[in-house]
Amino acid sequence: MADKKKLQQLIDGLNQDLANELGASILYLYQCSTASGWDGEELRELLQPEVTGEMQHAIFLAEKIVALGGKPTTMPIQHKCPKDVKGMLQYDLKLEKEAIEGYKLRSMQAEECGETGLKIKLEELIVDETGHAEKIERILRGM
Ligand SMILES: [Fe+2]
Ligand SMILES: [Fe+2]
Repeated sequence: MADKKKLQQLIDGLNQDLANELGASILYLYQCSTASGWDGEELRELLQPEVTGEMQHAIFLAEKIVALGGKPTTMPIQHKCPKDVKGMLQYDLKLEKEAIEGYKLRSMQAEECGETGLKIKLEELIVDETGHAEKIERILRGM
């Protein structure tokens, strides 16, 4: 049994991650619907699957928070989104990299709490977010 304080810190961290995922899903929805021009088409192709992809991450986190005895947040992180496509992608790249760092920390916390399954799942989220970051970087290199 993990100590109570560490478990609470893990739950709080997962709730931050949840707010970030909810915010990312909404941000990508906004960007997909407002991006214009040829670059906007590419952005849409890249990000449309991630509107639901990031929401899937949010669903996993919310269910895990409840399973650990916590209460999932309903408040997404708010974003101020750049209007131009390149600015959007640069902004998104920063978010994806922050998500990777967040999940690295969270997987260590999960391990400390003896939550091996959660740790492995968080590492899978790192794989997903790394894939997103690499795709965005590849597009940005060509802009
Ligand atoms: Fe995500
Ligand atoms: Fe992502």
